[in-house]
Amino acid sequence: MCPFQTMPPRQPPGWRNFRMDASMDLISSPQALRDTCRAWSKAGLTIALVPTMGFLHDGHMSLIDEARRRGDKLVVSIFVNPTQFGPNEDLDRYPRDLPRDLALAEAHGADLVFAPEPGAMYAPDHATWVEVPELARGLCGASRPIHFRGVCTVVLKLLNLVRPDVAVFGQKDWQQLAILRRMARDLDLDAQLMGMPIHREPDGLAMSSRNVYLTPVERAKAPAIREGLLLVRAAVAAGERDAETLGRMFGAHLAQALPGARIDYASFVHPDSMEPVARMDAATLFAVAVFVGSVRLIDNILLEV
Ligand code: PAF
Repeated sequence: MCPFQTMPPRQPPGWRNFRMDASMDLISSPQALRDTCRAWSKAGLTIALVPTMGFLHDGHMSLIDEARRRGDKLVVSIFVNPTQFGPNEDLDRYPRDLPRDLALAEAHGADLVFAPEPGAMYAPDHATWVEVPELARGLCGASRPIHFRGVCTVVLKLLNLVRPDVAVFGQKDWQQLAILRRMARDLDLDAQLMGMPIHREPDGLAMSSRNVYLTPVERAKAPAIREGLLLVRAAVAAGERDAETLGRMFGAHLAQALPGARIDYASFVHPDSMEPVARMDAATLFAVAVFVGSVRLIDNILLEV
């Protein structure tokens, strides 16, 4: 029995009856999505895709706005993909608000929102997975072993259904984008995969759907993560090149500014290959994941040398 078939519905009751303005379609069937996009392509229209897990925030909006500029037709997918969550992760409590997401997508010019049920995306005997293990070993892949396999598989499915000219992703999930780009290159996919800069709250905290889990005290202190990244950037600008020293600097800052937080990783890696970097001789990504209470927040900064 496929686990996805037995999951309770993830969409709010009555969502299928959401009254759509004539200008935006809501589709839940993969075949209907494929048919619509095929008709657009046959008519010579370009298509831009923004894959999301919903609970849209301003970060998503920056992706949607960019995609709007880049395609004649704009598709936004909203799907909390169960296969990228480990058994003890937050699939069940991942925030969802489809009616609000639909209103936002429409206000930002989406032509179509694709919001399938898990059972429509994964057949009961689904057995095919796409992986890029070399790039998925470290960083988020180390503590979330099946995460990127689920991401690659669902994104490839979406790219196959939509056949977009361009698909837009956020650089907060830098490793995700590097992995998807490698997948696209290795499998000769057509779509151009674009990355958009991290969108931040006014106090510097990277926007994330998971920020709503933070308690008011945690939320007030969470910008310390970004401050730590900037501290490291300043040290690099001042000439420090040793990753271990820079990592210790980040740890010391967090211990003082965000006591009780637990660093899952704070890693210096090559921005494309995700290979660890011990000494910075070229542009290097500093990527971190930090547990603030039970909430795991990620952030990163590209350090130019
Ligand atoms: O970045 C996300 O929100 C998800 O990983 C994605 C790309 C929509 C795949 O489920």
